[in-house]
Formats: sequence, structure tokens, C-alpha cells
Amino acid sequence: MKAHLCIIMGIVLAFSNGSVFSQKSDNLLVNSPDKTIEVKIQLQRGKIFYLISKSGKAVIAPSALGLKFSNIPDMNGNFSLISSARATFDTTWKQPWGEQLWVRNHYNELILDLKDNFNRKLQLIFRVFNDGVGFRYHIPAQLGVDSLIIMDELTEFNFSSDEKAWWIPVHRENSYYESIYRLTPISQIDTANTPITFELSNGLYLAIHEANLTDYASMTLQKMPTNGFVSCLIPWSTGVKVYAKAPLSTPWRILIIGNTPGELVTSTLMLNLNEPCAISDLSWVKPAKYIGIWWAMHLGNYTWSQGANHGATTANTIRYIDFAAKHGFDGVLVEGWNYGWDGKWYEDGSAFKFTQPYPDFDLEYLAQYAGSKNIQLIGHHETGGAVSNYERQMEEAFQLYNRLGIHYVKTGYVNKYLDGKEWHDSQYGVRHYRKVVELAAKYKINIDNHEPIKPTGLCRTYPNLMTQEGARGQEYDAWSPDGGNPPSHTTILPFTRMIAGPFDFTPGTFNFTNPAHPKTRVQTTLAKQLALFVVIYSPLQMASDLPENYEGKPAFEFIKRVPCDWEKTLVPQAKIGEYVVMVRKDRNSDKWYIGAITNEQSRELTLKLDFLDSNVQYTAHIYADGDDADWKDNPYSIKIYTIPVKAQDELPLKMAAGGGVAIEIER
Ligand code: NOJ
Repeated sequence: MKAHLCIIMGIVLAFSNGSVFSQKSDNLLVNSPDKTIEVKIQLQRGKIFYLISKSGKAVIAPSALGLKFSNIPDMNGNFSLISSARATFDTTWKQPWGEQLWVRNHYNELILDLKDNFNRKLQLIFRVFNDGVGFRYHIPAQLGVDSLIIMDELTEFNFSSDEKAWWIPVHRENSYYESIYRLTPISQIDTANTPITFELSNGLYLAIHEANLTDYASMTLQKMPTNGFVSCLIPWSTGVKVYAKAPLSTPWRILIIGNTPGELVTSTLMLNLNEPCAISDLSWVKPAKYIGIWWAMHLGNYTWSQGANHGATTANTIRYIDFAAKHGFDGVLVEGWNYGWDGKWYEDGSAFKFTQPYPDFDLEYLAQYAGSKNIQLIGHHETGGAVSNYERQMEEAFQLYNRLGIHYVKTGYVNKYLDGKEWHDSQYGVRHYRKVVELAAKYKINIDNHEPIKPTGLCRTYPNLMTQEGARGQEYDAWSPDGGNPPSHTTILPFTRMIAGPFDFTPGTFNFTNPAHPKTRVQTTLAKQLALFVVIYSPLQMASDLPENYEGKPAFEFIKRVPCDWEKTLVPQAKIGEYVVMVRKDRNSDKWYIGAITNEQSRELTLKLDFLDSNVQYTAHIYADGDDADWKDNPYSIKIYTIPVKAQDELPLKMAAGGGVAIEIER
């Protein structure tokens, strides 16, 4: 990834010696470049607090900062300020893939050098952007502070009232964030994963998350008796949260702040707080649209393991490759190709062999056949959570794929724990997932990580980490005992999990029922399945259904045409949990795509087309819910038509209950 434009507009550094706090006032301020967001830092009787406001409206009430250790005294008070430094930074960089081509990294920074009564140094670094705030702790190398055993991070996030939030609990339903979002006041939350998203009573929107989670435990939030949270790091099985050494920089704690829900979606501060790209040759890092020998296993038609209904056979894979080539897809995922699927692999994955195909799957031939049709074979490494078993074989497995010209691998970690005892989101998990991405980069392999650690922007540094799961995807609509994802689910995801990065949700199911689970179904209309290709961003985007369910269907045309790499993204209208209108411009053409979706309520919105070039006549291809459509009784009713449009026009977006609209606009 090259920084195409790099303008440091001005760097102002101001150092002051002696305690700034004890001089004039006990406040230090730092503002966003547009002056709307203000962070105030206070030192009160040796304890540090921060407060955040936007346009004079409170976002975060006084909230304490600190760290707890088991091998040295805590850093949680008795601080005095030694010096402070300020800087302004402004640069623009290009994303190799993304929701926007260019990203501006513009912030004001305040660094506080603190000392405690043991004479130990701690630095607090605040960066204030127009779209929010990031801060981190830095423990410099110093005498007497070498190895660090962190037992807790005491970062608070306090609110002035009982605000409402969309959240999912920590580890209650599973270990990999696959929950339905709750909307409740803070008072009804116990533990929450991040991103957690708030609609504040002053009208602002806020998401709390973290950026650049490197060799540390992931941060969750623990409700405090007051109106707020304290960070709760996920422990190792030993109870320790983080094993580290000084110098140590913690991940950034980020607060994305917007006037509208859409401003949370278009925020770039998480990416800006990650390191620039570490890969010099990006020729193999390419977004791709794929199908797979996959949905049929979730329906129960095929098995992953060998037997009469084995899905990953040579003949079946050829059929999928031919279908993909005929319809312009880039790849075919094949699950169940390797030894290890027999028995209860999801309880113990140590039987998985990542270089040994089943006898009815001719890997070498299929890689060559796919190549001859310009199709990427997408490899699959389900580990069943047996990380050590995977790490022993990983390099050889990536070497094999590299030799066969396979550049995409889906990884999976279905198990409550990794290696039988560590959480996915612990420092152990963080280290493992990073190792996979780095090694994959060495062998020119792009990763689609299922049951992952939540994304925190690592894809900026390693864009081969192309997409992840880490939320309830479409697969729940095949077998979930609760009936499947409710219609509101996808109207919440863009403002919660997806703030953290691409999501392999796998839209595009055309057949909504599953005889094996008659009480479970896809709870959308057909038009909404199409709209999800625009609403849910993934540069590795799957069309989930079986070739036989696509063949001959007019609605399939939209899936064939919609790209998965964008130059611009706009969110002109949204109400979290109710509806979303997402407008995206293709990176490789002048075409625009619109995805609008609604929850269980039918509704009609009006979209101004003022993002189009004026004085140009465009054609809109519209895939809308039929007049009689609704997700429960008539989900397949769809109207497909073409109309001329111009920038001055307003387009009605009429959506059935659980429905949506997908639109392609071309010159
Ligand atoms: C769970 C993943 O989310 C799914 O996509 C995959 O098919 C199964 N694990 C098996 O690996």
C-alpha cells in the first residue's frame, strides 16, 4: 500500500517541564482539527481522568485510567505530570481495497508524561480526529519495570445518564461474537463486547472499540455500579490478562463519535490507528466474489466427512468451478476436502490434516482445472480450535497452497476454547491469529477468518486479512434453533460489528427454507438478499446459495454484476435496527450501487440522487420487492425494471416487511 499523498500540514510540539497541572489549572485540553470534539484530561489527587464532548454535548463523563499488575505495584494513582507534548498530523493514504479508496489521517495529539510515587514513568497518548478519539497507555523502558504481568486495565467509560446501547454479551452464547444484538439501557448490561454502539440522549452516536490489538488481551466492557463501564481484558487460563515487557504500548481505546449513525460507518479512525501496510507486493491481494461447496453442508444435503453425500468430491468441485466460470465469479470455496472431519471435530480438532486431501478430492488436478478457467480455488482450514495442531502444520499447508497457486484460505475455530483452555479473544488467541496472517502473507495467501478475534484494523497492516466472521452470519438461517436471524439483524450490523471491518456474512440465499430444520428460515425477501451485497461490506464476498438455486433466476443478474471493492461509501439514511440505505461507488467503473434494507416494518423512503454527476443521463436497474411481497408469506415476489435517472431526481425506495431494494446505476 503506497501513501500517494503525504502532507504533514504542520507539527507543533510544545514541551513543558514541571507539573502543568499544579501550575495554572488542573485541566489539559486537546481538540479535533475541526474543533468539534474536545478531550479534557484532569489530574485529581494523583488520579487521572478524561472527559469527552462534541459540539458542547457530553459524550464521556469523567472516567479514570490506570493499570493493575501482579508483579509490580499498580499504576493507578499518585501521578504527577512531568511534561506534555502536542502535535498535529495530516496525511492521506490509499487503501488496496476498501469501502473508500482514499483515507485522510488527520488528528491533534497530546502526549502526557507522568510519574508516580515510585518514580515510574507512564505515558498517555491521546489522538483526536474529526470522527472521534483514540488513546493508549505507553510504559517506557525503565529501571525496575521490565516484565509486566497485567491483571487488569482500569480504563473507564462513564456516561452522564442511562444511555441506550446495542450490545452483545461476553462468552455467554459462544466465544466468537455470534449473538443477536440487544438494545437496552446501560443499566441492563452486565458485560459487553466491543464495538458497542450508543444512541445518546443528546442526539449523538458513539461506538466504543479498540484499534491495533497486538500481543495483548482483547478489551471487553464490564458494567460498573455507576452509569458506566470499566475495561475487562480477557484472561489466559492462568487468570493473567497480559504477559508483556516494557516498553509496552497498549492497543488504542477508540471512541467513534458521529452526528448520524452513518458517520460511524464512514469513520476511518480505527484504520488510521493501525500501522501502515507491511506487504510490499500486493499484486495477489485482490478482492473476489465467490461461491462454495458450503451451504449444502449447512442444509444437511452434503457432509464435510467422507461418505455417500460427501460434498468435496472432484466431480462436484468441477461442477462448481464450471458454474463460477460461466457466471463471472472469481473463486470457489471447498470445505470438507481434507482428513479430520469424521467424528466430533468441533469438540477436538486435533485430527485435522491440512495437507492430506480425502481420496475422492484430487487437489492437484482441481487447482490446475480451476486455474485453466481463471477461477481461484479457495482453501479451507477448519481447526476445531486445536491451534497447536494447526500451528505444527501451518507452514507446510501454506507452502502446498502456494505451490498450487491457491491465494485464498478460509480458516475456522469452532470450539468453546482454543487448545482446550484458552479463549479466542485472549492474548493467546491474539498471538495465534496474528501468526496466521503474517505467515499467510509470506506465502501470498489471503485469509477469511471464521470464529476469529474481533477485527481491530489489522487489515491496514496486513491487507491479506481480507475478511472475517465474528458475528451471526447467514448460516444461522439454515439451522439455528431460534429460527434464524430476525429481519432487524442486518439493520444493526453495519453500526456495530461492521464498524470493526469486513464481515463474511454470506448473503445471496435464494431458497429460504430447509426441510432438515422446518422451524428455521431466511427471514428476508429476495430483494433484500440482493441489497445485502451492498449493505454488508466484504472484499471477499460470497454468494451463499447452491448453483441449482441460481440457475435461470432473473434476480441472479444483480449478484453477477455487483462488485465488492468500493471507491466511495455514503450512508444517506439510517436508523439503527430499523433501516439502512447504503450508497457505494464501484472502484473500477463509473457505476453506483444502492442497497436499502428494512426490519420487519414495511416502509417507503426517498433517496436523493445528488451523488451522481450532474447533467449526465444514467440508467437505474432496480430490483425491488414486489407489491405483494413480505418476508413471511411472500418473500420471493420481486420487480426488476430499468428507468432513466439524473442527479436531480429523487428515487422512491419502497420496501416490504423484511424487504429491501438493490439498484445498479450506470451511465
Ligand atoms: C463454522 C463456519 O462459520 C462455517 O462457515 C463453516 O462451514 C463451519 N464452521 C465448518 O468449518
